Amino acid sequence: MKRGLVILGAQWGDEGKGKVVDLLSADFSATVRYQGGSNAGHTVLIKGEKFVLHLLPTGMLHEHTLGVVAQGMVVDLELLVKEIEELESRGLSVRDRLFISDRVHLVMPYHKVLDSLFESKGKIGTTLRGIGPSYMLKYGRRGIRVCDLENPDRAYRLMKENMEFVHDLCEKVYCENHTLSLEEIFEKTLEHYRRIRDRVTDTTRWLLQYEGEVLFEGAQGTMLDVDMGTYPYVTSSNSSALGLSNGTGLPPRYFSNASFWGVSKAYATRVGEGPFPTELTGEEGQELRERGKEYGATTGRPRRCGWLDLVALKHAVEVNGLDGLVLTKLDVLDHFEEIKVCVAYQRGQDLIYHFPASLDTLLEVKPVYKTFKGWRKDTRGARSLSELPQGALDYLEFIQEYLGVPIVMLSTGPEREEYLWLRPYDLASLKTNTPSPAKDWKKTMA
Ligand code: GDP
Ligand code: IMO
Ligand code: MG
Repeated sequence: MKRGLVILGAQWGDEGKGKVVDLLSADFSATVRYQGGSNAGHTVLIKGEKFVLHLLPTGMLHEHTLGVVAQGMVVDLELLVKEIEELESRGLSVRDRLFISDRVHLVMPYHKVLDSLFESKGKIGTTLRGIGPSYMLKYGRRGIRVCDLENPDRAYRLMKENMEFVHDLCEKVYCENHTLSLEEIFEKTLEHYRRIRDRVTDTTRWLLQYEGEVLFEGAQGTMLDVDMGTYPYVTSSNSSALGLSNGTGLPPRYFSNASFWGVSKAYATRVGEGPFPTELTGEEGQELRERGKEYGATTGRPRRCGWLDLVALKHAVEVNGLDGLVLTKLDVLDHFEEIKVCVAYQRGQDLIYHFPASLDTLLEVKPVYKTFKGWRKDTRGARSLSELPQGALDYLEFIQEYLGVPIVMLSTGPEREEYLWLRPYDLASLKTNTPSPAKDWKKTMA
């Protein structure tokens, strides 16, 4: 790899990774998705035309970019084929630029049945895309990998065993019926496989020998990471930087020269259940939802909205070893009279500055806020620092000083062109000229 950039969600997903990856991958020759599956919904808006990618790396929207679906993903082949065909029907060539790991685990219809069943008994608020059950069977050593489909007899046997397991679970444990047919699932899976078969390869070896620039596209966000997030209200993969090595099959050493950037909204959202200390359940939350158009890109569910949580974001900075932050959706805050940021949690008499593991603690804490006066001016589409009101600059400065990480880029609208760099970047080497959170960052752009 000539140079590497890792883009990670720094909150509870939907931070705007799709937009940012699309923007940045113009300067990369390959983009890699390496964990999660079609629970992801990455939105890109190009001159009013909307694309939402669930399985393919977002960088593939650029015709020059190769795309890798690496081994840590769980893939619903039917959706993958559909996504490829949909993009091709919109004029993009995709198939020939795509490499799918032979070690990728499949998401099968029975995983989705289990997802619904588990949700009906104890709600996590999943996307119902079969992600959790697919990882569950993977780690339970009952999963089916793409490479298993090369041998239809073996694939049939594995599917049959899986279906018997699922059948017993449904009927004997949950007392529910299902209408799945083994023959139909088997035939359809092989049919989808035939459509992508020539794109399947050992992507680890492919990446090891690849000499171009590679962008790694995280899905979900750090707070949804199965180990570092708000467990059990998380997804079933390591969606923080922890998932990079096992998700790609590449040694940790491979990433030693890569840059790690986190994407965060200028406020916070979350879909599904689970702790969200800064959630606003009243009018302000509703206003954030409407102004930010906060409805899920995968499920259409209204997202829960709240103020920016710097305790959680600091956790993401530390866990991921971030050396830069991309802040999105600043424009959504433009018309608020007051803007708050959470700088600590309070529990009884105690102040907490580090994101706690305990669900009980998380559900009890109250956010301690610093309040900013709203700037009440349009920042939508701003392309330079000089277009930002002083109030917005003060807000940005506070965030990066608290986190100890520079904000490198600001997204000021959903369109590809709506962004600005906050620091002069030498994209060729991906090294910032001002590597630490310089106090005089405004001067560097003067
Ligand atoms: P992802 O999952 O992290 O890729 O994010 P999603 O695509 O699920 O959700 C982000 C939403 O915010 C999408 O609808 C984007 O088009 C939109 N978006 C991204 N950046 C900005 C921004 O700076 N301002 C505004 N107003 N919308 C943005
Ligand atoms: P992107 O990549 C936001 C959430 C679900 C649920 C939990 C578990 O678009 O940021 P799962 O279906 O993964 O078992 O659901 O994780 N979730 C996401 N929330 N953005 C996502 O992806 C998400 N993927 C999963 O809402 O709370
Ligand atoms: Mg999303």
